[in-house]
Formats: sequence, C-alpha cells, structure tokens
Amino acid sequence: MTAATARACANIALVKYWGKRDSQLNLPAAGSLSLTLAALVTETTVAFDPELASDELILDGTIARPTESARISSFLDLIRAEAKLTTRAHVTSTNQFPTASGLASSASGFAALAVAASTAAGLTASPRALSILARRGSGSAARSIFGGFVRMHAGTASDGSDAFAEPVASRLLDRVRMVIAIVGGGAPKSHGSRDAMDHTAATSPLYRAWLDLVPNDLAAAEGALASGDLAALGAITEANALAMHASALAARPAVIYWQPATLALLAEVRALRERGLAAWGTMDAGPHVKVLTSIADAEAVAAALRSVPGASEVIISAPGGPTTVTA
Ligand code: PMV
Repeated sequence: MTAATARACANIALVKYWGKRDSQLNLPAAGSLSLTLAALVTETTVAFDPELASDELILDGTIARPTESARISSFLDLIRAEAKLTTRAHVTSTNQFPTASGLASSASGFAALAVAASTAAGLTASPRALSILARRGSGSAARSIFGGFVRMHAGTASDGSDAFAEPVASRLLDRVRMVIAIVGGGAPKSHGSRDAMDHTAATSPLYRAWLDLVPNDLAAAEGALASGDLAALGAITEANALAMHASALAARPAVIYWQPATLALLAEVRALRERGLAAWGTMDAGPHVKVLTSIADAEAVAAALRSVPGASEVIISAPGGPTTVTA
C-alpha cells in the first residue's frame, strides 16, 4: 500500500471564475485572481490498496454520498491513467475549518486530493502540472495549489495545457486579512457552483457583459497588486463579486445566493468604509460575506460584522501557503 497526506488551504476569489469554455476538461471561460486563506484547511490522505474492489471515501469522518464518491473516483482515474495504475484507493479527507457552517470548499479539497493522490501514486509533478490536475476536479482548486495572491489563466489551448494558476508577488500580502462572516440559520441549500455557472452562461442576458468585464478587472487588480494599492484592489474585489452575482441573478430562472443577512453585512461593510476603515466584501456560491481588509482594521471589521443580525460566526484569516505533502 502506498499512501500520502497533503494539506491545502481554501481560497477566495477577488476576481471571480464564473463560466467555462469547456465542461469536459473544466476549462474556465476567463481568468481569475484569488487569495489563499490560512484559516480554511483541508487535510487529505490517499492510500492505494490492491485489496480494494472500489475507491472508498471518508469525508469529515463519514462515508461519502455516492455522487461525491463518483466525482472523486473519476478524478483518481486521471491519476491512475497517468501512473499506469489500476489499484483503488482509500481517501480520507477532513476540513479543519473553524466552523461547520457551509464553507465546504472544493478548492482546498481537490488541491489536497491532487497532491496526495499524485504523491501516493509515485508521480513527480511540477506545481503547474498539479494546478492543471486540480483544475479537473474544480476550477478554483487550481488556485489552491499556491499560497498568497494567485492568478488563474484561462488559456487558449484545447487540451487545457495553458489553463493553470500561478502565484503573484505583492507587498500587499504582508498587509491583508480576510474576515469571513458566516450567514447561517435556515438558509436553503445553495445551487452548486458547477451547475449554476453553466445555467448562467446558457440563460443570462448579462453573461456576455460579465465575460467582457473580467479581463479589465484582472488587469486593474494586477495593477493594484503591483503598486501595493489595497483600496484599489478592494474596490475591484467588491465590484467584481457584485457583477458576477448580477449575471447569476439575471439567469432564467434566477440563481440567488443572497440571504437578507448577506445584504445587511454588505451594508455594514459600506458603513465601515465610510468611517475610513479598509473593508470590501465578496460573495461566492452561498450567502456568506468575505471581507478583504488590512491587518490594522481586521479586529474592528470582525467586531462590527459580529453585531449584524444573521451573522452566525465571524472568522479572521491570514493569507495561507501552498499545498504541501505532510506525510
Ligand atoms: O471551483 P468551483 O467549480 O467550485 O467554482 C468556484 C466559483 C466561485 O467560488 C463562485 C468563484 C471562484 O472563483 O472561486
């Protein structure tokens, strides 16, 4: 039996990935830019075992549902094909998130799985190859291979060989925090991002406008990272998230991720900015609000968000590092 364990951090996109140019290879229609987060960690062990008749997946201590297991098995098939293996595997994956509330991350999950499974299979892959592999599991996972600020490239090749992520150096990395406000309490189950982005692309009259916007936001965000301008990066982050959600809201039928508390939190973020604090909100395929802020303002931002009705938990995260093999 050959086993390996990897540890990956989730990431939050500052310029979102929302829409594919190829579903089979999971190729994004546009680039994206994210911040990897130290507080949201997934640890995954993969053990190839000749005794097994099928793959076994234990997620957070319980046997995974058949749909989850099937998705993991097809991902492992990519690694088996590359390593010329037929052996099935035990996969044990644990989210070491400071909350149980709906922050489940396919990004850290597939990044940890890509690295643990490749290592256990005896493959030596470069970080870029691992990013390309993780992308096959989930588009955002390609970014979690790397730490800090990360740029995902849409690429143009039909085989996806140029659709990978890479880290972007910026002195802002020593200045930023992300405050994560969990919106809990009876929120209906969200539409999965995979189906929702396909549905937006197929039916939203605003999808074209969204795709036209992304390259401009990426260029402006990279400019802000290069010049160390947190206010500029924050403004793009919030505006880009709202534009992504606008495209989803305009899908037919609509994809609505927000709860009343989501809007209350966004209003508080604006109020904080008016008081001169660094705070810019972003939302993904769920009701939670993540706030880009500075180290200096993180505690004050977290305290203000804790007082918003409907925010069940508030976490401060520092930037996180790359995915690593731990055993
Ligand atoms: O990686 P996926 O397929 O779960 O899609 C991620 C989609 C968003 O979280 C909404 C945006 C992003 O870039 O992470």
